[in-house]
Amino acid sequence: MPGLLLGDEFPNFEADTTVGRIKFHDFLGNSWGILFSHPRDFTPVCTTELACAARISNEFKKRGVKMIALSIDSVEDHRNWSKDVMAFNSDAESALPFPIIADDKRELSVQLGMLDPDERDKDGLPLTARCVFVVGPDKKLKLSILYPATTGRNFDELLRVIDSLQLTAQKNVATPVDWKPGDKVMVIPSLSEAEAAALFPNGVTTKEVPSGKKYLRYTQP
Ligand code: BEZ
Repeated sequence: MPGLLLGDEFPNFEADTTVGRIKFHDFLGNSWGILFSHPRDFTPVCTTELACAARISNEFKKRGVKMIALSIDSVEDHRNWSKDVMAFNSDAESALPFPIIADDKRELSVQLGMLDPDERDKDGLPLTARCVFVVGPDKKLKLSILYPATTGRNFDELLRVIDSLQLTAQKNVATPVDWKPGDKVMVIPSLSEAEAAALFPNGVTTKEVPSGKKYLRYTQP
């Protein structure tokens, strides 16, 4: 996949969206951001994903994360599709709580490496994959995930990942498998025992392993 690496500044692209023309960095302001792409409007898996994103949009808001979707159709299509999405949620009276970028020329999808070569439209042109970018308040890329068009994402996992990103942005820790807020976290390997003891007043516990190496260190953040 070409393009962006973790830590790169996210491009300050300009685009037409369902809420008008935006410059991405201005759209983000000082917030975190999540940009998620979809293969196409009026498609079944994408509709379930956008509906889920809309249902839990308050969870992103609570975490100070601005949401924005993208697919390779026009603003007009996006506006019409948004109505289907909210009706799918049995909430037809409400507006979709985040904008959708219109990338009908696929320029942004190419720039950000989001096209799925295995999924093509009726004219043989590639569709967008299910890409997720999480951008920090410093406008740098903190996470990218790329799913093929045929596999829908898990938006609860995206919230969990954001919780981890936001915690580890503040504290010098790492989160283990299936971590959830409130669970113990792990002390990063580069910290010495003395540094860890000084940094974590709640204490550090070390799990013994056959190698005798003391790298499985837990603390309560
Ligand atoms: C869908 O959203 O359902 C979909 C889109 C493109 C390819 C496969 C599935």
